[in-house]
Order: sequence, then structure tokens, then C-alpha cells
Amino acid sequence: MRARLSKRLALCLPTESRFGSHTNLMSTMPSTLQLFLGALGRARRLPRSGYYRVVNRARYGRIAKYLRYSQRIEGWTRGEEAVALARAAYALPEDAVLVEIGSFLGSATILMAGARHIRGNGMVHCVDPFDGSGDDFSRPYYENITKALALTQRQQFDANIREAGLNALVRVHPGTAASIGATWKEPIDLLFLDGDQSPKGARLSFEVWSPFLKVGGIIAVHNSGDHEYAAEHDGSRRVVVEKIKLPEYDGARCIGTTTFATKRAATD
Ligand SMILES: C[S@@+](CC[C@H](N)C(=O)[O-])C[C@H]1O[C@@H](n2cnc3c(N)ncnc32)[C@H](O)[C@@H]1O
Repeated sequence: MRARLSKRLALCLPTESRFGSHTNLMSTMPSTLQLFLGALGRARRLPRSGYYRVVNRARYGRIAKYLRYSQRIEGWTRGEEAVALARAAYALPEDAVLVEIGSFLGSATILMAGARHIRGNGMVHCVDPFDGSGDDFSRPYYENITKALALTQRQQFDANIREAGLNALVRVHPGTAASIGATWKEPIDLLFLDGDQSPKGARLSFEVWSPFLKVGGIIAVHNSGDHEYAAEHDGSRRVVVEKIKLPEYDGARCIGTTTFATKRAATD
């Protein structure tokens, strides 16, 4: 019985921190251990979904709620990279400025805005034309998803953010990375690049937005893992290989398909 309990406990405790302030997030919980032990007996009687809700709350603390909202929405930021993105957003300084290039239906927006909601401040700026445009490889995927919706892409994005209770932490900038970036002025604490995935589009997005990232800020480049890509869909990977390295960027690590790094020196 004791051995079984320790095995289940080990499965539910947080994995090694990938961000310095990860422990801050866990300390916002009543007590992971108490919560888990208290819930263990009750969880056996719960339906499967309720059981996972209890386990995820014990494992991820308050971000579990936003992981759940995020996963209900069609999107591409899932599993450990979703957790890492939410934790990175949580660990930023007070009143952090976050920018997401390519928001689609708001699945990843909710991870970042949810984390800032827990902190009680910050703003996630979402840059997207909300018209299903993008690189040749991705466009049919966007189209298939959006044509099944009863609402327009933008209306569905708004509805998703509203349902998660995150309106106050999200500001939408309808347009492309280049058009919105042309008049942008605010320094950024976390830049999540996930718009046009072609080599030309991803490079342009990086070049326009990365100069605004503060020294000490976090860049997160989605769809940039080390694997084979379809033609013209490897833009983010190229950005990481060519640009996310010392002396400008430090500590690059890929979690799931997202590369995270810290800016160490000005690039402009
Ligand atoms: C891969 S989806 C974003 C997924 C979202 N970040 C998530 O994790 O659920 C890419 C989005 O970027 C948009 N997009 C394409 N080209 C863009 C550009 N040049 N600037 C900004 N957004 C762009 C697409 O229309 C699409 O909505």
C-alpha cells in the first residue's frame, strides 16, 4: 500500500523546474501535497474526467484551469510546451507585456493570459489578421477548422477569451506581424512567435518584433523543434538555428515543439 502510494505521489508531483520562478507558481497553491493527499481518497469515486481534474490541479496548481480551457480550443500548443508557456508567462515581472504573433482561436493566448490573471496583472497583445491567411502549408488547416465554426475566426477568438474570463488581460491587434510592428513602441517581456511559418514570414516576424524584447525577456518560438518539415513550413526552425544563440540569446531549450530562450544582449 505504501509503495503504491509513493508511486502515485511521484507521478503527481511537479517535474523539475525549467524556469527560475517555477517554485513561485507552486507556492501559490494551498499545498500540492495536502491537496493531493486529501483528494486521493475522493478521486477514486470520481468519474474519469473528475479524477484527471484533481490530479492536474495537484500537478499544475492554479494554471490547471487554464490548461483545461486552452485544450478545449483548436490550437497547436499542447502538453509540456503548454505548461512551459504558462509557467514562463507566470514568472515574468509585475505588469508584464506579452506579445503573441499568430493567435488563431486563442488557445495559447489563454495559457499566457490565465497565468497573468493568477499573478493579477499584465497584458497579452495578440497580433493576427484573423482571416486564415499564412503560409501555403498551414492555410488549408486554418480553413478547415474555421469553416466548421458558427462564428467568424475573430468572433470565436473573442468568445473563447470571454468564456475563460480573461478579457481584461487580452488586447487584440488585428493585422500582420509587419503591419502592427510598424507602429509598435512598447518593450516586451515575453514574445511568442507563432504566425506565418514560412522562412520569409517567420524571419520577418522575428526581425520586426525581437528588437522590442527586453534584455532578460523570454522569446518562445513555436513549431521550431529539430525534425523534418514540409516544404516552406520550416521558417520557425530556421529562425531558431540562425538567430537564437549567444551572445544575443542564452539558455535555448526546446520543450515540445517550442524553443524558449532568454535575451542577453540588444539585437538592434
Ligand atoms: C499556428 S496559428 C497560431 C496558433 C496559436 N498560437 C495557438 O497556439 O493556438 C497561426 C496564426 O497566425 C496567423 N498569421 C499568419 N500569418 C501571419 C502574420 N504575418 N502575422 C500575424 N499572424 C499571422 C494565422 O492566420 C493563424 O491564425
